Amino acid sequence: MATKAEMRDRIEARINEGLRDKWYPVAKSVEIRSDRPYGTEAQGEKLVLWRTADGSIRCIEDFCPHRGAPLSFGEVHEGHIGCRYHGIIVDGTGTVQRVPAMPDCPMEGSKVLRAYQVQEVADAVFVFLSQKETDTAPDLPLPQELSNPNWTGFLCSAVWDVNYRYALDNLADPMHGCFLHAESFTLAFGSKQDILDLDRKEAGFKVSRVGQVGENFDWVQFHIEEGGMFCFLDIPYPPAAGPGGHMRILGYVTPMGPRRCKVFFWRMREVSGTARESWRFLYRARLEERHWNVLEQDRVMLEGMPDDARTRERLYQHDIGVAHLRRMLTRAARSQLEAEDGQKPNAAE
Ligand code: FES
Ligand SMILES: [Fe+2]
Repeated sequence: MATKAEMRDRIEARINEGLRDKWYPVAKSVEIRSDRPYGTEAQGEKLVLWRTADGSIRCIEDFCPHRGAPLSFGEVHEGHIGCRYHGIIVDGTGTVQRVPAMPDCPMEGSKVLRAYQVQEVADAVFVFLSQKETDTAPDLPLPQELSNPNWTGFLCSAVWDVNYRYALDNLADPMHGCFLHAESFTLAFGSKQDILDLDRKEAGFKVSRVGQVGENFDWVQFHIEEGGMFCFLDIPYPPAAGPGGHMRILGYVTPMGPRRCKVFFWRMREVSGTARESWRFLYRARLEERHWNVLEQDRVMLEGMPDDARTRERLYQHDIGVAHLRRMLTRAARSQLEAEDGQKPNAAE
């Protein structure tokens, strides 16, 4: 029987790695090609992805079953992947198709690598990161804007050298906008004093500034489902930013390793007709660079924080969203671990 302290450590470790059995975005669609493989990392696992001739995407462990070379250093070969080291061909199910250097090699035909479920949505590639290989998965949670034709936008992603929890904490903290981004194009407005309100939702929660509405980064909502989570927030846009309503940011954060994560942000506006084209033009020509500058401010700040900042921090009222998010992660990690313990063969003994 695990002691309370042991369980606490396991929960902490699980949260640090990222909750299992969730969908996480791992790449932009354009990064996955049929002429070369793409290697990445998620929850400490090395993955390789590629596209087959019909455009669908495969994802397996990035590990050659022969001697462990990264398959992502190899090449795509008739819809399979070929290792650069000695030429073994592995397919998208993780089964060795051919060992060209060795006639009748017994490895041929055996499934030796793990395969992952993949979904491609709104210019992003999501992978189901489960504890074990599985054919079933809960739904991938998606914001409605990604499938609503009235909305249009752009996806940007970046790798940050910081544990993903810092990126999530940052998103759950609207008050940093008017300080950290005070010099920015859209976030320079509004007051620097306020209190925050927490509103529990059916799936997740919303944290909002009480004294300021519609001026700056005033609220953020986390949507949390069994299959994963995302957050969304609105940034009011000045007239100089072109047609369309406020800019809605949809965000996902993917744990890569202990000190690395990948952030995915869609920047969306509800705008149609020719106004839509002019907003898209303006975004590419002028706004995108400004957004990158804001994101860089977040990245530099978070990467500068020590890994164990959590052990010495002193939260105050504005951290109500951060604290709530952490509680939700703790609860989810605990129930995952308890479920896993319950599945062990000797659990009933
Ligand atoms: S390590 Fe891949 S074929 Fe030898
Ligand atoms: Fe920020």
